[in-house]
Amino acid sequence: MCGIFGYYNYRVSRDRRAILEYLFTGLRRLEYRGYDSAGISFDSHSVAPELGTSSFLDGAVGNGAVLPNGDKPAAVLENGNASLVSTPVVIKASGKVDVLVKLAYEEAIKQGIDLEESLDNHAGIAHTRWATHGVPSATNSHPQVSDAEHRFVVVHNGIITNYKALKDFLIKHGEVFMSDTDTEVIPKLCNYVYKSTPEKLSFYELVLEVISKLEGAYGLLFKSAYFPGELVACKRGSPLLLGIKEEEAARPLQSSPMRRPNPGASFEAFIASDASAFVEYTKQMIVLEDNDLLHLARGTYAIYNVSKDEPGAAYGSVSRALSTLDMEVNSIMKGGYDHYMQKEINEQPDSVLQTMRGRVKFDQKPKAMDPSWDPYHEKRITLGGLVDRISTIRSGRRIMFIACGTSFHACLACRQTMEELAELPVSLELASDLLDRRAPIFRDDMCVFVSQSGETADTLKALEYAKERGALCIGVTNTVGSAIARSTHCGVHINAGCEIGVASTKAYTSQMVALTMMGLALSEDSIRLRSKRNSIIDALGVLPDQIREVLKLDAEMLSLAEQLKEEQSLLVFGRGYNYATALEAALKVKEVALMHSEGILAGEMKHGPLALVDELLPIIVIATRDRMYQKMLSVVQQLLARGARLIILCNSGDSEMKEICASGGSRLIKVPETVECLQPIINIVPLQLLSYHLTVLRGYNVDQPRNLAKSVTVS
Ligand code: F6R
Repeated sequence: MCGIFGYYNYRVSRDRRAILEYLFTGLRRLEYRGYDSAGISFDSHSVAPELGTSSFLDGAVGNGAVLPNGDKPAAVLENGNASLVSTPVVIKASGKVDVLVKLAYEEAIKQGIDLEESLDNHAGIAHTRWATHGVPSATNSHPQVSDAEHRFVVVHNGIITNYKALKDFLIKHGEVFMSDTDTEVIPKLCNYVYKSTPEKLSFYELVLEVISKLEGAYGLLFKSAYFPGELVACKRGSPLLLGIKEEEAARPLQSSPMRRPNPGASFEAFIASDASAFVEYTKQMIVLEDNDLLHLARGTYAIYNVSKDEPGAAYGSVSRALSTLDMEVNSIMKGGYDHYMQKEINEQPDSVLQTMRGRVKFDQKPKAMDPSWDPYHEKRITLGGLVDRISTIRSGRRIMFIACGTSFHACLACRQTMEELAELPVSLELASDLLDRRAPIFRDDMCVFVSQSGETADTLKALEYAKERGALCIGVTNTVGSAIARSTHCGVHINAGCEIGVASTKAYTSQMVALTMMGLALSEDSIRLRSKRNSIIDALGVLPDQIREVLKLDAEMLSLAEQLKEEQSLLVFGRGYNYATALEAALKVKEVALMHSEGILAGEMKHGPLALVDELLPIIVIATRDRMYQKMLSVVQQLLARGARLIILCNSGDSEMKEICASGGSRLIKVPETVECLQPIINIVPLQLLSYHLTVLRGYNVDQPRNLAKSVTVS
């Protein structure tokens, strides 16, 4: 939910202004993860790279020392362990990153900080917040600090569940708390450990001691006045990536050595919750694993973790694979659109194609002379991440879809497809509800975890719960290397590309395509289902063009939004495959346009919702041609009989619907027709456009809706 970012440079000369700009750019990229406040920490003194921090600890600079640049240390610690050489500057602001940027430059001028001074070795950290403990305010925003001298400075993404006990303990030991956050216990604990440990600890040893006391989830970055030019990062639960930019860029992809091969050379590192924060600087990265502790010092990095998977096992240095980031800077820019949501809606012809690329074989006709042609498999789906598991899934007791929010709606939209193709019972679980009920899961259950971010805390916890019960766990995510992608036994990446707008749009349609492909892969051997499968595969082939077609409704959706913008409330009716479309459309309208909206199963209309119907309340009815069409016609007639104001989403060329609505003043939205299981993918697009335009017209923030964050990493 929060975003953390660190920038480290060694023997790469950066002036302070450039360092600030790295931090601000990182924060802007991560702002979608949280946007109620932000903060940074950087040094006001320079540290000569050749001295490095350990030299300070070795006594090269003792009490009363003078800094390499001739300045007096900001403070000197009494215990003789090390000198406090520089008080990190901490600047925080409530509101968006731009507020922080303005404040930071004003403060720098006020405090006489030289923005043009070149720093050869520096560690800066930054944070953008989505409040969990304590209201959004400058005091509660991060970095949180140990004391007025900023001996320890920390940014945190996650939640510390035992913070209360730690806080009580630290208060008893004289620490004074300023904020309402759970995070503040961490820098205070650093201070406590530092003061109470007689032997010299290196920065990472100290942090190791601190995190051994923490419970909960975290991605953490530490900076310290005692260890200038160093940075420590660690993670448990929350994501953290290390981007590496070094001289020997041509180093082959391999298991990274614990330390850089050439530690004296110039080196820059970026640590972030998400690769979008550093994609323009480097594509070389390491995905940190749970309980990893990363130490950057003197131009080198080391990663530590427990070497054995047993309680109390000692930490030792570990190797982590270097990988190449498969992301382009363009994918995280707005590219001519006003908002990310608008861009992502419009990207859907391409994003669904990316989901299918290399996986769907559309060949239709036997090549007369081709001996390899197999009449049973002329149209085929190959899901690389599942090929070895297909027979296991087919022999399972049931398929369970587990997700939250929009991802849950994608599961709902594809339940029937999966039931029909896999010919297995399919159950649906909202991750939080599954956990609340401790619902039964068995060894022969096939659990499918669907998550755009791959980080959602409830989905992740449900995954752990299912794994403990021995179920096969399958991930469907958009984020390679995410916690869900890594913890599941197998899975499918939807490859929709970076989704930045908080409201999920292109991930939703790609999730539906991926789940449909999964159903097709599971039914490959069924001769009985062959013609159904073939018609779905044919329809997938033209889906991108049909989405392109439906995007042309943009102006019409804008005019509908003009008509609806002052409304208090909006109902959306659907059934069958399109019950999910009704729920998803209503969710989009409520979360970004901040208008009350409810998705209703049309079959339930007479069991309550009909009481709301009058000539004032606008109602969207999804009535495209599928098995439910006749029932939906009847719903439309019953609503019209009560004078309802209808907006009917139907297929182009539906003359029956046109006739029924001719006299009632209802508005029709006409969309291209496809096979019924893919129709929800087409149907949602105009409704995404409607929610987008409603939001703009009502004057709300499209990409960062009130109180929400993109990745919900707390339960
Ligand atoms: C709504 C939305 C949320 C997410 C939900 C799950 O537009 O984006 O409802 O779908 O928070 O997130 P993921 O898919 O990342 O697990």
